[in-house]
Amino acid sequence: MSSPAPFARLPGHPERQSHAQRLSGTSVPGLFQADPQRADDFCAEALGLRLDYSRQWLDRPAREALLALAPAADLHGAARALLEGQPLNITELRPALHSLLRARSAPRGLEAEFAEVAATRLRMQACCEQLHSGNWLGFSGNAITDVINLGIGGSDLGPRLIVEALGSYRGAVDCHHVANVDPADLQDTLLELDPATTLFIVCSKSFQTRETLTNAQVARNWLLTAGASEEQLPRHFLAITTNLEAAEAFGLPADNCLPIWDWVGGRYSVWSAIGLSSAIAIGWDAFSELLDGAAAMDQHFAEAPVASNLPMLLSLLETWCCQYLGAENHAVLPYDHGLRHLPDYLQQLTMESNGKGVDAQGCPLSWDSAPVLWGAAGTLGQHSFHQLLHQGTRLCPADFILPLRTRTGMHEQHRLLVANGIAQSRALMVGRSAEEARSELLQRGLQKQRADALAPHLAMPGSRPHNVISFDAVTPWRLGALLALYEHRTFCSAQLWGINAFDQWGVELGKQIADSLLEEMSGPTDPYQPGAGRVDLDPASRALLEAWRRAQTPG
Ligand code: F6P
Repeated sequence: MSSPAPFARLPGHPERQSHAQRLSGTSVPGLFQADPQRADDFCAEALGLRLDYSRQWLDRPAREALLALAPAADLHGAARALLEGQPLNITELRPALHSLLRARSAPRGLEAEFAEVAATRLRMQACCEQLHSGNWLGFSGNAITDVINLGIGGSDLGPRLIVEALGSYRGAVDCHHVANVDPADLQDTLLELDPATTLFIVCSKSFQTRETLTNAQVARNWLLTAGASEEQLPRHFLAITTNLEAAEAFGLPADNCLPIWDWVGGRYSVWSAIGLSSAIAIGWDAFSELLDGAAAMDQHFAEAPVASNLPMLLSLLETWCCQYLGAENHAVLPYDHGLRHLPDYLQQLTMESNGKGVDAQGCPLSWDSAPVLWGAAGTLGQHSFHQLLHQGTRLCPADFILPLRTRTGMHEQHRLLVANGIAQSRALMVGRSAEEARSELLQRGLQKQRADALAPHLAMPGSRPHNVISFDAVTPWRLGALLALYEHRTFCSAQLWGINAFDQWGVELGKQIADSLLEEMSGPTDPYQPGAGRVDLDPASRALLEAWRRAQTPG
């Protein structure tokens, strides 16, 4: 039999359970009425990020019981262990040292690793400068104007997010991102570009990811067809990888490869050379600010007391909603067009890290691990899934991400966006009773009978628990701090739930099956030919494979 989760084993668990039960029957507006200081006191601010959790089902006694989890689980000790590079990834026997990638000096004991990080930063900076100055020439002698990042998962989502979020910093060289193995992704991107002035960055920690290597091969052929010689190809390719041999086998000499290291997980790697395409897009100074913002969050995480420690608070609130109130999902709603893909980025970060079925010792969990994270840009979601947030039967906690100023210069229009963000948060919190709906309808001149019938459809329960994270504007520094905040929140939740956040074995089986299928699909397409049917498949998969075979001979 599996033992209870760490958060349930720690002192105060029954009290937290009874607080949760008591509060789930109350209304959040009622909590505001009972506690006039609530708006100010259920907030924490650090590094320019303001976390407002006053709309959560929490009052002071419940919060006290919840915050007591942090010292009981020794979250500060865990933070120290992470930042010092202890081998917390116990299934892969290595540390998770993403914080080192943004450090400005070597932490004790990590001097050798830091030296490599610093040297790689210099190489990244040199790449940026060479490209921006127009001195990086393609096979025809013209300067490179476009960079395409070829990578998937952590080798795509972070760099892509940064380029979108910090669009106003973009300079002379345009950056594009291709992740999907669907040929349409690369094809659509290449259509707009000139091979003679395009540089590919093959981002793959393992240099074994089929999607990325397939796209890299297509890119190679595109350049050769356009007139580049084999010898000229290195002018058009960089690789970011731990696997120098595989990169060399692809035709990229060591000079064209920038390293990352085993101790960086893919989803934590945007701060490394994996972020090169974004550094090229926004410029080295802005990329450095991004690193500094993240480094400031590392320090805050290590030092701030629980009550003002943003990653710990966010994780405790996640634990509150999921483990005590029973939420199974978590929405992220950025009120900023540039952050529209933040939910995608956070999906990999949180679900690949904490979507686990066994605890760190390998025992099956008898409690839930990561909630399903989902979301979309705020106003877009308002016209689609917010209906469910307001009136659906499921508990959907959310984080509103609300930058208060726009970098577009179009402040009048931006006012509308912010008004929408505040309005949605308020509507989720206060709701509307059937009686209020009914009197509004009567005031609008509806017949009593019609108003009575319609009122329940317009009623909204309110008290939908959510956080609002607001800050001045999406700058590189703030973005760095925000992303590191979510990294550490993910880590704290893993600690509270007793799981290893830094491995991802669950993605491997599908890759293996795809490899063996591919072998069969490269053979004869006629099912009666010798060679077909070599892979041992279940009948449902076999039927799909046969449908594919039939589709290869149209008509
Ligand atoms: O399939 C999952 C994964 O291993 C992610 O963890 C990783 O970010 C992605 O694939 C890409 O891996 P790589 O950088 O080795 O190509």
